[in-house]
Amino acid sequence: VATTLDWSDRADPAWLAKVVAGWRDREGPLYARLGDALRDAVVAFEVPAGGRLAPERDLARALGVSRSTVIAAYERLAEEGLVERRQGSGTWVRDAVPAPARAGGARRGASDRRAFDRGFRIHLRPGESLLDLTVAGPEIGDAVRDALREAAARSEEVLTGHGYVSHGLPELRRAVAAELSAAWDVPTEADEVLITNGAHQAINLVAAHVLRPGDAFAMEDPTYAGAVDVAELVGARPTGMRLDDDGVVPEAFERAITRRGARLVHLTPTGQNPTGIVMGARRRAEIGRLAADLGVPVIEDTVFEGVSLRRRPPKPIAATAPSAPIVLVGSLSKLFWGGLRLGWVRAPGPLLDRLVRLKMVSDHGSSLPAQAAALHLVAQAAGQRELMRGHLEERVTLVDGLLGELLPSWSWRPPRAGLSAWARLPVEDATRFSRFARRMGVAVMPGSAASPTGAFEDHVRISLGPSLDVLEAGIRRLAEAWDVFAREGAPESDEIAALV
Ligand SMILES: Cc1ncc(COP(=O)(O)O)c(C=O)c1O
Repeated sequence: VATTLDWSDRADPAWLAKVVAGWRDREGPLYARLGDALRDAVVAFEVPAGGRLAPERDLARALGVSRSTVIAAYERLAEEGLVERRQGSGTWVRDAVPAPARAGGARRGASDRRAFDRGFRIHLRPGESLLDLTVAGPEIGDAVRDALREAAARSEEVLTGHGYVSHGLPELRRAVAAELSAAWDVPTEADEVLITNGAHQAINLVAAHVLRPGDAFAMEDPTYAGAVDVAELVGARPTGMRLDDDGVVPEAFERAITRRGARLVHLTPTGQNPTGIVMGARRRAEIGRLAADLGVPVIEDTVFEGVSLRRRPPKPIAATAPSAPIVLVGSLSKLFWGGLRLGWVRAPGPLLDRLVRLKMVSDHGSSLPAQAAALHLVAQAAGQRELMRGHLEERVTLVDGLLGELLPSWSWRPPRAGLSAWARLPVEDATRFSRFARRMGVAVMPGSAASPTGAFEDHVRISLGPSLDVLEAGIRRLAEAWDVFAREGAPESDEIAALV
């Protein structure tokens, strides 16, 4: 039975041998096969930047090859600039991680590992074919394709001039402000809206503006994995807040600010990712009151507002507590398509100005063709919410049936909104299981990747975004992987074929 891969042991030859398991099945001379497997591991961050690779002689012994094979493989990586060969001190993975990401000192090993698992999807190797259940977003549909066509056909009307438009297309800012005012009861002027590259960038900009290295950033536990990434990127300390069936617990919210000194809070009241919880109106009012009293900025993340089993989730917290320092962020990613990279942030003028400056430094503005298409989509939001309600209903029914039939030892509570199924395993071994399942051809996110504290090692998150076919095939594959894993632990890849 394989042991958990621990990054702190990365100079250990047995560890590295496990990382490159299956390398002999590749093509070419031995050193090239080994070199390619090592390269994939480095590129996928399985061997983190700044780490030392096992000494040549030790790795050779662990793999049962000659030392010259390992030397040639390491040289190959060195030629590609991925590693550095230092006379007398070994072979080191080049350190390409930006400095702020390394805040956290001694915890670096664990947090790097979680960052890798959070980046599961992003690090799919080119050409890797996988049933991908990691991304909580819908596949592209007709509405988006039609909007792109429409926007192209009428491009002269909105796309003019040099195209560097810092705050976003004025028409789109007006449309977003109108939608927030009318459909969400949050009175908004167009000049309080900044168009961003997805809600993720909006969260990133607010965090970069508000937080200094070492500050606490409070978030639900479990939460959107990207919020943990942002905390680490700006050098802040991600701090978890407990949830109950009604969302974040008010005492936990208060304690995060008063006792743990959080300078910023991230909340997802509707379709909490990954639990699917929808916070009730009374709890929203309570959190709104606390936010107003404590005066700490809160990012209210509305990306799943339009993907709910209930026709109308309660109003955003920002609507119930207009005097609280709440920054609303949202996007078209969950209602329509994440590939548009179209989001927004609603903030009072002076704060918005600071965010715009940060955005300018980071990317000089969002793509205008995507914004032109978004104009058509925002106008269809009400109809699309209805479509996504059906989408979610169908998937909840499907997953409920499949988990009951194929994975009876797992438990789950169907989500009320959002695009995630949060399933509990009977063991605390979700990271290892997820890695094994991926080798069996299906990717899910291990629960600890969604936790600012590294908890929930007994959960996995299954995306409810994909088509019904992919979702069903993925869960069937997951069940096959579970059967092997529960019986055998996590066998090496060359043993899998013999087992299934
Ligand atoms: C809660 C939450 N917020 C924000 C995002 C980022 O979405 P995007 O940047 O695509 O708008 C996600 C994506 O999964 C999410 O789940």
